[in-house]
Amino acid sequence: MRSTDRQRGDEMIKRIGVMTSGGDCAGLNAAIRAIVLHADTLGWEVIGIEDGTHGLLDRPVRARRLRVDEFDGSLLRRAGTILGAVSTGDPFAFKMPDGSVADVSQRILDGMAGLKIDALIGIGGDGSFRILDRLTRQGGIPFVGVPKTIDNDVPGTDASIGFHTAVEVAVEALDRLQPTAQSHHRVMVLEVMGRDAGHIAIHTAVAGGADVCLIPEIGYSLDGIASKLQAVKDTGRAFALVIVAEAVKTDTGEPVAHRKPDGGIRYGGIGQWLAERIEVATGADARVTVLGHVQRGAEPVAVDRVIASALGVHSVGLIAAGRTGRVAVWSRRTVSDLPIEDVVGQTRPVEHDDVLVRTALGLGIYLGDLRT
Ligand code: F6P
Repeated sequence: MRSTDRQRGDEMIKRIGVMTSGGDCAGLNAAIRAIVLHADTLGWEVIGIEDGTHGLLDRPVRARRLRVDEFDGSLLRRAGTILGAVSTGDPFAFKMPDGSVADVSQRILDGMAGLKIDALIGIGGDGSFRILDRLTRQGGIPFVGVPKTIDNDVPGTDASIGFHTAVEVAVEALDRLQPTAQSHHRVMVLEVMGRDAGHIAIHTAVAGGADVCLIPEIGYSLDGIASKLQAVKDTGRAFALVIVAEAVKTDTGEPVAHRKPDGGIRYGGIGQWLAERIEVATGADARVTVLGHVQRGAEPVAVDRVIASALGVHSVGLIAAGRTGRVAVWSRRTVSDLPIEDVVGQTRPVEHDDVLVRTALGLGIYLGDLRT
C-alpha cells in the first residue's frame, strides 16, 4: 500500500510541477498543454521543470511558471518538448564531472522543495517512472506518471504518447521506398526504432505492406527470409520490402549495437547486416534505410494529440482526487490508471498472440519462425 502521507486532496493543492523525462517524442507539448489548461480550471499553478531532474540539480533551479496563454498558439502541434528532456543520469548513481558516482537525490529534492510544489507529474517511460517514483517517495511528494515513448512498451496502456506518430513516419518511409524498390527491382530494408519491443516494426509492416518483418520477440532464420523473398519473386514481383526492428539480433544471436560511454546499449546496424545477408542468400540488390530519430521529431498525428490530451487531463484529475502513486493509461479508447508498482520494472513486448502478429501472418508476411 502506498504511504498515505503522500496523498493530498484537492483542497491542499495549489501548485504542481511537470517534467518530461527520457527520450522525447511527438505529443509531449500536447500533454503539457493539457496539464496546464486543466490545472488552471482548478485554480492551480503549474511549474515546468526543465531537462527532467537535471533542472533540479542546477542552482538556481531551472524551472518556470507555465501560463495558459503560452499554449494559445502552435504548441499543441509542435514536436519535441518545450521543457527539454534528458535520458541520462540516474540521481541515485549520478556520474559526476570528475568521474566519480554519487547519490544526488537529496539535492534534487531540495531543488523541488524550493519550488513549493504540492505534487509532480512526470511524463516519461518506464525508466523515468522508476527513478521519479523512488525520488518522490523519498521526498514524500505525490507523484503521477504519464506514459510516453515511441517504443510503446509501457504495460497497461494500449498506446503511449508518441507511438502513433512514430508509426506514421515509418509507414510514410515505406510508402516512399516502395516506388523506388519497384523501379529498380530491389529489396528495401527499413530499420526502425523501438528498443527491445517490435511494436513500431509490426505496425509499420502491416500498414505499409511489407513482405518480411523481423522483431526482437520472434526468432528468424536467413533461410526463412530467403524462401519468402523467393516466393515473392515467383509471383512475378521483382521487388520486396523488409522491416527490421533495431534490437533484432543476428541469426546467431549476436546483438548489433554500440556500447555507450555510460555502459548502456545504443542499437543500430542490424538493417545493414541483414541487407548484406539478403544479397548473399538471394542474389537480390538490397538497400538500407535507417530511420532513427526522425521517428521522434515529427509533429504529433491527431491520435497522439488526443491521447496526450486525455492522459494530461486525467493525470491532473488523479492529483485532485488524491489518487497519486499512479500512472495514467489509455486503454480501449478510454483513460484509467494503474498503481505505479504495476508499471515500473515491467515491459510490454509484442505477444505472439497479438492481433497484429495474427494479422501479419494472415497477410503472409514472414515474421520469423513462429508456429501458430
Ligand atoms: O526509447 C526511445 C528510443 O527512441 C528508442 O527507440 C531508441 O533505441 C532510443 O530511444 C534512442 O535513444 P537516444 O536518443 O538516446 O539515442
